[in-house]
Amino acid sequence: MLQLLTITLSLLTLLTTTTLALPTPSKSNSKVTTNTFVLNGLPAPTGTLKYIALGYGTQNYSCAALNDAPVSIGALATLYDATSILSHGAIGAASIPKMPALALSMGSGLGLPTLGHHFFSAAGVPTFSLEAAKPAALLSAKKVADVVAPTNSAPNSVDWLFLTDDGRGVSKHLNAVYRVETAGGKPPGVCSSVGTVTEQYAAEYWFYD
Ligand SMILES: *[C@@H]1O[C@H](CO)[C@@H](O)[C@H](O)[C@H]1NC(C)=O
Repeated sequence: MLQLLTITLSLLTLLTTTTLALPTPSKSNSKVTTNTFVLNGLPAPTGTLKYIALGYGTQNYSCAALNDAPVSIGALATLYDATSILSHGAIGAASIPKMPALALSMGSGLGLPTLGHHFFSAAGVPTFSLEAAKPAALLSAKKVADVVAPTNSAPNSVDWLFLTDDGRGVSKHLNAVYRVETAGGKPPGVCSSVGTVTEQYAAEYWFYD
């Protein structure tokens, strides 16, 4: 409860210190709204929204030689459950474009409960394991669309993506995920050292089934 309060206060502080205008409160509070994210050119979702996760972790790159372009070799992130905060209401809607940048600047998952993990399998498959979901869910994914982050994103933000089940028959209770509202994660354009480069990033992952 205290954690939730802290998150809410952090977000409120962030909101009130920006020029963002909160929408006028609706006269009727009986109307349930379902918030959505900006597609930024990605294909529209099909299916049902299941979870919204805040991902915080690293994007990994390999540098074979000085001045090479870094090559992406995967990612490792904790997925925090932001579903109840972001999926409805005016504060949720206003927080959607702000939460990952806040997480990156604070260097944490903002005290949200852990929902699962994002990693690359031994075979290099982007995988999302929502082990705290009920029932536990898994998405073994393949990338189907990729757009650059909007120009108003945090500096060096990785692309926004749309990934779907890769058809290997191992996914459970999930069919697709969007990576949006990215903050950070992009390496320098050329390698200044040889070896693995890791870049901290945060993003929202919107899961559908
Ligand atoms: C990415 O980097 C992290 C932190 O160094 C490491 O724990 C993880 O195994 C790496 N994953 C991949 C796929 O390179």
